[in-house]
Amino acid sequence: MPPAAVLPASRRLRNGLAGALAAAACNVALAQDAVRGAQLYLQLPGAASCVSCHGPDPSQGRNNLLRAADQPSALQRALGTVGVMGYLKPLLADADVADLAAYLGAVAAAASPAAPAVLWPVTIEFGGVALGAVSPVHTLSLRNVSGTSLALGAPQLAGVGAAGLLLDTDCAATLPAGAECRVRLRAQPAAAGPAAAAVVVTGITPRPWVVPLSYAGRSEPLGVLAVEPPDAVLDFGRTPVGASTVRSVRIVNRGTAEAALGVTALTGPGRDAFRFAAAQGAATPACGTGTLLAPGAACTATLSFASGAAGRFDAYLQWRGDATQPGGLLLAGEAEAAAPPAAPSATGAPAEAAPGDGGGAGCAAAPPARGQRLDPTLSVAAAIALLCLMSRGAVTRLSRRFHGAFTEPAYRPVASAVPGMPAALPFPSSRKDLPDEQAR
Ligand code: HEC
Repeated sequence: MPPAAVLPASRRLRNGLAGALAAAACNVALAQDAVRGAQLYLQLPGAASCVSCHGPDPSQGRNNLLRAADQPSALQRALGTVGVMGYLKPLLADADVADLAAYLGAVAAAASPAAPAVLWPVTIEFGGVALGAVSPVHTLSLRNVSGTSLALGAPQLAGVGAAGLLLDTDCAATLPAGAECRVRLRAQPAAAGPAAAAVVVTGITPRPWVVPLSYAGRSEPLGVLAVEPPDAVLDFGRTPVGASTVRSVRIVNRGTAEAALGVTALTGPGRDAFRFAAAQGAATPACGTGTLLAPGAACTATLSFASGAAGRFDAYLQWRGDATQPGGLLLAGEAEAAAPPAAPSATGAPAEAAPGDGGGAGCAAAPPARGQRLDPTLSVAAAIALLCLMSRGAVTRLSRRFHGAFTEPAYRPVASAVPGMPAALPFPSSRKDLPDEQAR
């Protein structure tokens, strides 16, 4: 084909139109593919899917997951070279690989700092839900972080499992700059067995945003986990910069069978400010991965909030597992500058600075300038700074434990249904995915 510059104008126009049409068609195809890929990320028939090893928040790109964003060849390569992923190779057709890459491309685009909005959590797993029953509410939050208003399409359900889901939203056609809206989701399966679907939001970027959802209809006795009180926002109130505030929440098994708690995930724009912590005097966080709750039993999860920078922080805590999962918990906290004049704090400094890093970001009060009269608030500031440093130690210790609980343990292999599938997965959802010693 001759270069465009030497084409007659009419042909150039025709080619341009054809190109635009192809691009439009491509976009539609991409949208549908990403929806399929999203479902595959959470669920593959009869086998553990990507979420089991790459986690409930694919935007965090664990194990270089996002190398496959819009790159089917990168995923093909991983299937061929990553030993633990080998069992997936015969389960995924080329079209599946392309759809997964399209979904991961959408995830990467939505997670880009240049994106005009943030949407969290990134995936939702309802767990098993008794036939005819309705699951607790899981909430998606969408915040416009651009300087202008966004024209949104109504958030919609798509995919094969959409029939077993209920969607309710306050997202209107326009989301003003800085505003936030929510999509509330519940599962109400009519058929037994696993199912997946997705919420699709258009209008944020030319490419639709996709959030996969999964659930399984169950007819046998089932653990049913609930947060007490339900649908609550766990509000940490105002905390001085550098200090930490602790809140706790009860998780109860209201079902008729034992429930194993799977992995917890913190997502959302302010997630670094929150920690799943151990209660005072306890060695490990209660309600952590592998906790078994008999029917009627409860555990109390402790969470801490701390930030090195002033501001409002929002996050979402969710669980994954075979039982009916508790609705995700909305977390909100506000960090206020301890006392003026505060030293410019390292923005977004995580509370998990290594011990002895000399950081204390956000805790330090600036020394008085020479000749300046000593401000009486300084002694208060100094006291707060001291408290900061002390609590910082505590935060560091807690976050160590937090990381301890979240590091991928070396699971001992047990028998698995799919040939070659690792029995023990870093993001277990079921009791059989847990290491023997935890599964008793
Ligand atoms: C059993 C656990 C497991 C499952 C299931 C799994 N992965 Fe992986 N994956 C890994 C590990 C571990 C690595 C990192 C390998 C390394 O860095 O050596 C990895 C790496 C990757 C990479 C990066 C490869 C690279 O170029 O570095 C991609 C992309 C990927 N996985 C995609 C997926 C997708 C998509 C799925 C679902 C279809 C999936 N994985 C399922 C464990 C898993």
